Amino acid sequence: MAPFLRILGIETSCDETAAAVVERDAEGHSNVLSDVVLSQLDEHSAYGGVVPEIAARAHVEALDELIEEALKRANVSLADIDAIAATSGPGLIGGLLVGLMTGKAIARAAGKPLYAVNHLEGHALTARLTDGLSFPYLMLLVSGGHTQLILVRGVGQYERWGTTIDDALGEAFDKTAKLLGLPYPGGPAVERMARDGNPDRFNFPRPLVGEARLDFSFSGLKTAVRQVAQDIAPLSDQDVADICASFQKAVSRTLKDRIGRGLQRFKTEFAATDEKPALVVAGGVAANLELRGTLQALCDKNGFRFIAPPLHLCTDNAVMIAWAGLERMATGAAPDPLDVQPRSRWPLDSHAETLIGFGKRGAKA
Ligand code: KG4
Ligand code: ZN
Repeated sequence: MAPFLRILGIETSCDETAAAVVERDAEGHSNVLSDVVLSQLDEHSAYGGVVPEIAARAHVEALDELIEEALKRANVSLADIDAIAATSGPGLIGGLLVGLMTGKAIARAAGKPLYAVNHLEGHALTARLTDGLSFPYLMLLVSGGHTQLILVRGVGQYERWGTTIDDALGEAFDKTAKLLGLPYPGGPAVERMARDGNPDRFNFPRPLVGEARLDFSFSGLKTAVRQVAQDIAPLSDQDVADICASFQKAVSRTLKDRIGRGLQRFKTEFAATDEKPALVVAGGVAANLELRGTLQALCDKNGFRFIAPPLHLCTDNAVMIAWAGLERMATGAAPDPLDVQPRSRWPLDSHAETLIGFGKRGAKA
């Protein structure tokens, strides 16, 4: 049996502090030996969003212990680790500095190679860990900071087919919730309220639907929600439920159109491939059952496999960072020098342009 390479992963790019130990052999078999995540949700919820300074401080306070815990749960010591993988972008710079500096310090002290990992690459490659997926495939990343449709051709080979030109989808959920007086994070609250609402009461806009480009836009939707909420104020619980249901329906229809076009493009570009094509989702919004249902139905209709990794691996975690490091090691890629710098912006596809309006919380994933 091929020997396993074992790596310690560190994630601090946003509001989760995480450490994990994962191993992989040359054929791609893997074991997750530990997976520790500390969410800072409580620290940020009073502010209705992530506060960068609070996040950075919380990472400093928690990270060392978390790494110890990850090693302990994996039943290994640093001597048993072959390399360190730390997120070095994109994300909030304070948090990235904490994680990357810690990674560098451990790498230096223990004499191990360091891999500076792109957080988005972690999301993009997770389905290979969970489902042994082979390249190429499509990935939809829908989180608080990103809404991107990415063609994953191979390790280090990504093409961004679509992105948001304004708000990320999770951000649209969060802002809508805030407008309606629902708690942060807004996504789960909106989904819960929508269950008792009438999705046909309000006809919210479906931006870019029908256009050939594969981009997304959600800020108009939020504005329309604000307008309706003002027009019919004061809002009863039923009004809030109806707005949530109508909002979710508009999002669902938008995704159906945008992603539907993406699947068609994939089928055209990879017509000669025998394997059944696949769409992977990642990011916190992938928790939404209605949106999942929409994507599942779309995939069924188009002959695609629909892959949604378990939720704890869809949202931010260090397993995916460790795994991305292992995938890079498996390609024979050289480790990073110890003076590698964190990057708050770091697109997966270096050829993709930044779109106008993108970037309010654009750095975080
Ligand atoms: O990937 P994630 O946990 O963190 C980062 O953005 O880094 O995603 C969080 C986002 C938030 O905007 C949250 O409102 C959204 O995912 N979210 C949801 C649901 N659960 C979380 N959005 C819609 N429906 C949900 N059930
Ligand atoms: Zn993320």
